[in-house]
Amino acid sequence: MKSYYIYTYGCQMNESDSERLAHQLESVGYIATEEVNEADLIILNTCCVRETAENKIYGRIGELKHLKEKNKNLIIAITGCMAQKNQADMFKRAPHIDIVLGTHNIQHINEMVKEVQRTKKRQVNVEMDNTVLPELAAKPNGTFFAWVPIMNGCNKFCTYCIVPHVRGREISRPVEAIVKEVRELGEKGFKEITLLGQNVNSYGLDFKDGTDFGTLVDALDGIPGIERIRYMTSHPQDMTKAMVDALGRSSNIVTQLHLPVQSGSDNILQRMNRHYSVEQYKDLLQYCREKIDGVTITTDIIVGFPGETEEDFQQTLQLLKDVRYDMAFTFIYSKRSGTPAAEFEEQVPEEVKRVRLQALMDVQNEISLELNQAMEGKVYDIIVEGPSRTDENMWFGRTSGNKMVLFPKQDGLNVGDIVDVRIDKGQTWVLYGTVL
Ligand code: 5AD
Ligand code: SF4
Repeated sequence: MKSYYIYTYGCQMNESDSERLAHQLESVGYIATEEVNEADLIILNTCCVRETAENKIYGRIGELKHLKEKNKNLIIAITGCMAQKNQADMFKRAPHIDIVLGTHNIQHINEMVKEVQRTKKRQVNVEMDNTVLPELAAKPNGTFFAWVPIMNGCNKFCTYCIVPHVRGREISRPVEAIVKEVRELGEKGFKEITLLGQNVNSYGLDFKDGTDFGTLVDALDGIPGIERIRYMTSHPQDMTKAMVDALGRSSNIVTQLHLPVQSGSDNILQRMNRHYSVEQYKDLLQYCREKIDGVTITTDIIVGFPGETEEDFQQTLQLLKDVRYDMAFTFIYSKRSGTPAAEFEEQVPEEVKRVRLQALMDVQNEISLELNQAMEGKVYDIIVEGPSRTDENMWFGRTSGNKMVLFPKQDGLNVGDIVDVRIDKGQTWVLYGTVL
């Protein structure tokens, strides 16, 4: 019996791809191991959205070198976005790697492994086929929630972003294939699914037959067993009012919307190639709040984009205060070579970026705290996820709005149960409650 170990970095799309890699490996007899030191095959499913991610992964690849020295038959494979970006150059920096497999080629993992075993030579496959999306089964993750990719790629080309370069053009999965997978998940006892795409709001447009994200949301409504449908990531430019209406009328779409704004300055949004103004963005959010009852709103923001002045940054702070996000994921701009913004003059000094990030987090943390405190005394339904990582006497679950709620462990409660909790205390990142 041969064993495998997968490290997964980056976004949920990679989590999903790792489950699909695992399924393929197990279909030819590999078994998962918890001990990386004992694995016969190690996969690093990688991310390159920011430089920090890449550095971390190169660090890990370096640490694996000694395992290779101990076990000459060990195979190390690099998959995902960094593999796609750096291609065979990965071997220069890390000669102990055996396989570099691009984002469009994970269906070939077993052949690649066999080829290394047969030839004892390194293998690279980074061909990009922007016309088909292979249907790949996933290894069940032993929980009540599952990832469901609905498309791959991105056609937006925001000027800072490497994703369109490494994930290729948008290709959607047919509605029927997605509905079939979700039905099967419901039959297997999964209660929550997350629809994944770099830009879910342009789902289906490549079919050119009128299909869009709203069509998919309607088609997934009422599938037995599926209590909650999450979706990410949305793009303000492509999110139409009709889609918002579909989200609002669906019985199982969650009351959370992740709508990255990236900046609160029209000038910067234009330089980012985002195709909307702050005013349009705010109008859209207003519409979402009207149509999706009790919706929580989260966002992504980049500070220190080239040319961002103090005035631009102040506008971003103002936007946070106007919108009052439940949570914001905040990033320091990271230069990605091959993207237009990397060539822009007026790069912002590192120190300024750090100061802005801190100021942004300070403002947001206060808002998150206030919004979570406002939930105190109210009752929400949560799906029980299991014991808290830090305190085994506490369990946790999430609301439909994706707020994490901790509560004292109780007999008779099982992972996946849906229960009512009363919120007793709201903090910045978590809430404390009592199961009713
Ligand atoms: N630098 C910093 N943040 C980035 N993001 C994407 N590219 C970069 C970059 N070069 C952020 C965006 C996106 C999130 C997933 O990552 O905010 O929404
Ligand atoms: Fe990157 Fe913009 Fe596409 Fe998101 S929409 S993946 S930020 S290019």
